[in-house]
This record gives sequence, structure tokens and C-alpha cells, in this order.
Amino acid sequence: MSRELDLRLTAAASIGREAGQLARELFERGVPAKFKSPQDYVTEADARVEAFIRSRLNELFPDDAVVGEEAGGEPGRRTWIIDPIDGTANFAHGVPQFGVSIGLVDQGRPVLGVVYLPTRDHLYTARSGGGCFRNGRPIHASACADPATAYVEIGYSPRSDRAHYLRLLENVLDAGILVRWSGSAVLSLVQVAEGSSDGYCELFLNPWDVAAGIVLVAEAGGWTSDFFAGSGPYGGRPLLACGAAFRGPMTRICSEGLRGTDLLDPAHGIGPLVTT
Ligand code: IPD
Ligand code: CA
Repeated sequence: MSRELDLRLTAAASIGREAGQLARELFERGVPAKFKSPQDYVTEADARVEAFIRSRLNELFPDDAVVGEEAGGEPGRRTWIIDPIDGTANFAHGVPQFGVSIGLVDQGRPVLGVVYLPTRDHLYTARSGGGCFRNGRPIHASACADPATAYVEIGYSPRSDRAHYLRLLENVLDAGILVRWSGSAVLSLVQVAEGSSDGYCELFLNPWDVAAGIVLVAEAGGWTSDFFAGSGPYGGRPLLACGAAFRGPMTRICSEGLRGTDLLDPAHGIGPLVTT
């Protein structure tokens, strides 16, 4: 398996970089944007970049399944999960904070992650058991364990329940944590992996937002909740991610914010959270 995984990592890294260059070209040229649903942007670039990634993966690995944000797809035993442009609202507003995300899930477990941020020329790569790298150099999640010095991203989209989001935010602020948000789940996750933020939580995310980032964080020595737990891994779920030393405080603070909701149910993939 590790030879097959290494082969796929090398391929995904090169496809991710090329796809990002295409996304950047389209960003600089400017492409029309529209809404899929309230505040959920899509641009011509999303479809074009996804089509490019799909065609390269299909050509190289015809037996692997492919699921993407724009064109969907059916999962298989081994499934590539693609977000062609994460941070599309940033992209559509001319904010250069977006990334291409390519993850691989094998029998329900995320095993490989590649994220490319084309406007920074940062390529993040990881596969199970192999460590996490930015442009070929090892990176590590933060060692922060103290909420009073922590910087955490709390993401929001209209798909998140607003009351739960506000309660979560209130608990995190009460704990003395500095809160920011980049507008891209993929960016939030690579920041946790490289230790430039200490944690990230969002109440409703899709598999393409997180499949690659989860592997990056884990391989950088961080922790995430088990997004792909259970039998139905392709629906919307919450996610928590942080440095390993911050797992206790982060899960306690976020659990308190979510108390009384069914979001603590293991079926939502936050099983390992502290619930007492
Ligand atoms: C979105 C971003 C955003 C998150 C949303 C996602 P998109 O993905 O990751 O940060 O809050 O839930 O849908 O639309 O930019 O690919
Ligand atoms: Ca996304």
C-alpha cells in the first residue's frame, strides 16, 4: 500500500500545483461568479479546475473513484475527494486566499492530502505515516496548550445552525481565545498543520472541505475529530482541529458551546469530544 500511496502522493502534488496555477490565472483574469444558494459562491473557475483534476486522476488511476464539490460522483473502495477552489467567496471578491484540495480516502479512512495555495506558492503534502510538508520541508502543529494565548479560527456558513454557532463563539471568546477566520476551511486546516493557528472549528463542512486537511493536520502531529467516522462519510458534519497539546482545552470549550445539541453525537463525527 505505501508504494501505491507514494505514487498517488507524487501525482496529486503535481496535479494540485498545475490546478492551482490554472486557478490563479483565472483569478487574475477575473471570471463571472454566481450563487448556488445564499452566500454560497461558484465561479466558472471551480468547474474548469475540477474538470482538469478529474481528467488527470482518471487517466492515471482509472480504478479509483472521484468525488468533487462541483461534479459530485460516487465513492468507491478508494476515493479521491476534490475541492477545486476552497475559499470561493474570497476568490469571487478578489481576496487572494483560496486553495486547491485533493484528498484520498481508502475504505473510509483519509490517507493522503495535498493542498496548494497558488497565490502563496505553498504546496502542502502528507500521506499516512509519512509526516507533513510545506514545499518539501517538514511542518508541525503548534504546541500551545493555553486558551489565553491561543489563536483559533471559527468558520461559518449559512449551513451552520446560527444559534449553535453563536453559542460556540461565545464560549470560545469567554475562554480568552483570539478568534479569526480566513474564509476557507482548507486554509484554516493548513494553518493548524503548520502551527500558524492553534485550532479550527466549524459546525457544518463537506468532505471535500476537509479530506486533505485532516491528513495534513494528523501528520503534522495535530488532532482532528473523526469526520469520516461511521458508515455515511459523505454528508455535512462539524469538524474540530488543533495542535495535540490543545485537544483537551479545545474539546472542553467547544463541547460546552455545543452542549444540549445533537452535534456531540458520535454520528456527527465528534465522538472523541469530552461530553461530561
Ligand atoms: C466553503 C469554505 C468556507 C466554509 C464553507 C465551505 P467553498 O467552501 O471552506 O470557509 O465556511 O462551509 O463551503 O465554497 O469556498 O469551496
Ligand atoms: Ca470548499
